[in-house]
Amino acid sequence: MTTPTIELKPSAHPLSDAEREAILANPGFGRHFTDHMVTIKWTEGRGWHDGQLVPYAPLSLDPATTVLHYAQEIFEGLKAYRRPDGSVATFRPEKNAERFQRSAKRLAMPELPVETFIEACDALVTQDKAWVPAHGGEESLYLRPFMIATEVGLGVKPANEYLFLVIASPAGAYFPGGVKPVSIWVSEDRVRAVPGGMGDAKTGGNYAASLLAQAEAAAKGCDQVCYLDAVEHKWVEELGGMNLYFVYGAASNSKPVIVTPTLSGSILEGVTRDSLLAVARDLGYDAVEERVSVDQWQRDSENGSLTEVFACGTAAVITPVGTVKRAGAEWRQSGGEPGEVTTRLRQALLDIQRGTAEDKHGWMHPLG
Ligand code: COI
Repeated sequence: MTTPTIELKPSAHPLSDAEREAILANPGFGRHFTDHMVTIKWTEGRGWHDGQLVPYAPLSLDPATTVLHYAQEIFEGLKAYRRPDGSVATFRPEKNAERFQRSAKRLAMPELPVETFIEACDALVTQDKAWVPAHGGEESLYLRPFMIATEVGLGVKPANEYLFLVIASPAGAYFPGGVKPVSIWVSEDRVRAVPGGMGDAKTGGNYAASLLAQAEAAAKGCDQVCYLDAVEHKWVEELGGMNLYFVYGAASNSKPVIVTPTLSGSILEGVTRDSLLAVARDLGYDAVEERVSVDQWQRDSENGSLTEVFACGTAAVITPVGTVKRAGAEWRQSGGEPGEVTTRLRQALLDIQRGTAEDKHGWMHPLG
């Protein structure tokens, strides 16, 4: 199958510089979109074809389009950063492309070649480069590649037509409070994913399933929900849209150890999660993947050996956890303040992403 080349059909009416600058002054998260999008079609027998960069616009879908009924949909999230010299680079796009292929496989969708995924992201960022926020702040350009089943019909089967798209949105802090610690509700009855299910695929259904538990967390006064495993209701998995890390030993003289739950098949393999294993080692910490139970979390926080907890993801970067609640118990992490290890890891990762620290792992993908 040949790799499509993206045909450029740019907008005759992009937003004015002044309108764009007004948005970039306070972008929020996921509220504004750039002037363009990329679309690539797939049909059975023909494969991937008709790659285009076109003005950002609504899609027109038949009401019987299969994605609207059976949720055959997958997505990704990655960011483009402005560097000190004004150039732009994305962070590890091949990791997102590879995960997109794994998600496609799980949802019985066609796999987009890694190079086509990257070509599509590059085309959009290059065209809408003026939308990448200035160097120096927290902001970046968030890219949202996704794929939907576009066959029309109500039969339950893998579709014979798909549409891949990339849209882009200038992004500030994911949480309205910025890097302020968030509070977590540990749900001991709702589960996010089951063994053999699709918890390790990045598909909309997992996020839809998280909304009720998230609303229950909000009713308990918490910002985010934390899921446990679906079998024993004991092992920490992840938050609604982020992985978790536990920091041991930061308050003692020993070397800090950061621990993230082992990928169990029902945990999303986060790119930030993976990157932090390496960044932590670069900073001289130990970094391990291990099962962590909710009882251990509570006990080790109360006895002071577990000093910090943080959530991580592309959208939220690293967000400290301040308060944790579960049925019948509540405790604070690092006095409810961002911990030292959390803060150092966050800074080290952002420095690589923004081009102010050496990219010794070769993670940055410069454009143009
Ligand atoms: C991300 O961190 O990129 C995510 O996908 C989480 C959320 C915005 C869905």
